[in-house]
Amino acid sequence: MGKDISPLQKVRGEYKPKLPKALRSGKIKIELGAASHPQTDQEVIKSLFPQTYGQPVATIVGGEGNVSSALLKVGVVLSGGQAPGGHNVIAGLFDALKSANSANRLFGFLKGPGGVMKSKYKEITADLIDQYRNTGGFDMIMSGRDKIETPEQLAACKQNFSDLGLDGLVIIGGDDSNTNAAVLAEYLKAQGSKTCVVGVPKTIDGDMKNELIEASFGFDTACKTFSELIGNICRDATSAVKYWHFVRLMGRAASHVTLECALQTHPNISLISEEIQAKGTRLDEIVDYIVDVITKRALDGKNYGIVLVPEGLPEFISDIKVMIDELSATLGKEEEYIHGLGDHSERVQYLSSQLSGPSAKVYASLPTAIQEVLLSRDSHGNVPLSQVETERLLIDLVADKIRLRKARGDESNVKFSPLAHFFGYEGRCAAPSNFDADYTYSLGYAAAQLVRAGMTGYTVNVQNVTKNSDEWIAGGIPVTMMLNMEIRKGKPTPVIKKALVDLNDKPFKKFAENREAWALGDEYVFPGPIQYFGPSEVCDRPTITLELEKS
Ligand code: FBP
Repeated sequence: MGKDISPLQKVRGEYKPKLPKALRSGKIKIELGAASHPQTDQEVIKSLFPQTYGQPVATIVGGEGNVSSALLKVGVVLSGGQAPGGHNVIAGLFDALKSANSANRLFGFLKGPGGVMKSKYKEITADLIDQYRNTGGFDMIMSGRDKIETPEQLAACKQNFSDLGLDGLVIIGGDDSNTNAAVLAEYLKAQGSKTCVVGVPKTIDGDMKNELIEASFGFDTACKTFSELIGNICRDATSAVKYWHFVRLMGRAASHVTLECALQTHPNISLISEEIQAKGTRLDEIVDYIVDVITKRALDGKNYGIVLVPEGLPEFISDIKVMIDELSATLGKEEEYIHGLGDHSERVQYLSSQLSGPSAKVYASLPTAIQEVLLSRDSHGNVPLSQVETERLLIDLVADKIRLRKARGDESNVKFSPLAHFFGYEGRCAAPSNFDADYTYSLGYAAAQLVRAGMTGYTVNVQNVTKNSDEWIAGGIPVTMMLNMEIRKGKPTPVIKKALVDLNDKPFKKFAENREAWALGDEYVFPGPIQYFGPSEVCDRPTITLELEKS
């Protein structure tokens, strides 16, 4: 970090995040519930996780403490995409460990799980953490997307933890990283290692949530940052009255980010992937819908508007989804061979012989850049969707369709001047909102208690977060309880089920009730930038999604 910091960062560094009452009391008691089970695939998951299957849900309560204050050495690692509040998780963890025993030590593994496997770390000291309190980004120890999976990698971790004398490792990550935490916890327990593993639910995508995890951290700040930008674009659109803005939003498969931004800003069109999948909508039908709205607005003299596109859209359009699944299965078997082929045209030719007729046709119809991205997978088997420029594809298809309709005599006088935007990285490292600053600090503080209690294979949680922090309840959920079996890289694999947008829940219903009015009117809302100081109704408001879900 440079020596100059902004006035905001300086003042914001002094913000004291709120904590649940039970964590403030100093005396920590952990209550355990009944044995837990995943909703599906119980037998397979039990056989894969014999050591950690069936553990009880844990709740941290105040009162007489039952958690040891023995000297601890703990490691922490940031895994996957950045999310606002990561540094505050570490700050909460650090403060809780020091408050339990001032001789406790915290080590930050560098550049993600790769640092864990290579034993690259730095000690987190009071001076270091003070520079990063309430800041965005993961730059204090950096992040990475490596996956700890092979027997050699697992053994290297065990050896490194033993060399360091580590009592616990806290993995701050999304669904894949928390799954990885469960795999590591299981392995270490089976090997008789003393190191326990605790996960923290992180991701701006908002897809790591369930009955016990109300939100993944970072979603609040990222959505507010994107909504500020979208609001600004809406104002520009109504001022210039000549552009159609197509805004693709990060969020991987789930459309939570797009839905939340739609609820915050009321754009003319918001595509929700889960609805498109439920209705089996094809790509040409999506294009028709967009062109219909553009045409109706043109008839009203409005040749401008805003379209929100979730980055996961391609995986939900029926014909493209089938093609991606077939591609994944082929890559699962022949990834090396396919990538070893001389050039892209050879790959396309080879794939056309491997895919079914309709899928080969869909694949061949896509622009080369998108075809190439669809052939890569990250270490967890996901398509790197942030690199698929769906907004540009839609712009091209919409422009073609408008030309076609005009050629067939459409007299609406549509003037279509499109602009493409992609918002993702701009929001992932914003300084955490009050919500994320408090929530993450509490998660870190609670994770320290699970480690103190030697609990392994857990994801930390904090519930009741739309209420006053006094009423927040922290605890831990056994990761095995959240697992299900999915096909990854062509093989059945235990993973935490991603929470997609629920079309029967209030956030989607609120959007669906209003979208027609938002399409044709100019009902934009301008949320403005995140406020860190000022009235509580401005600074402390959670996302509309969370408010509606909990209402
Ligand atoms: P995770 O939280 O699941 O790691 O992903 C967050 C995310 O921002 C996604 O929204 C996006 O698709 C992806 O990371 C981009 O990956 P990368 O950081 O490797 O470009």
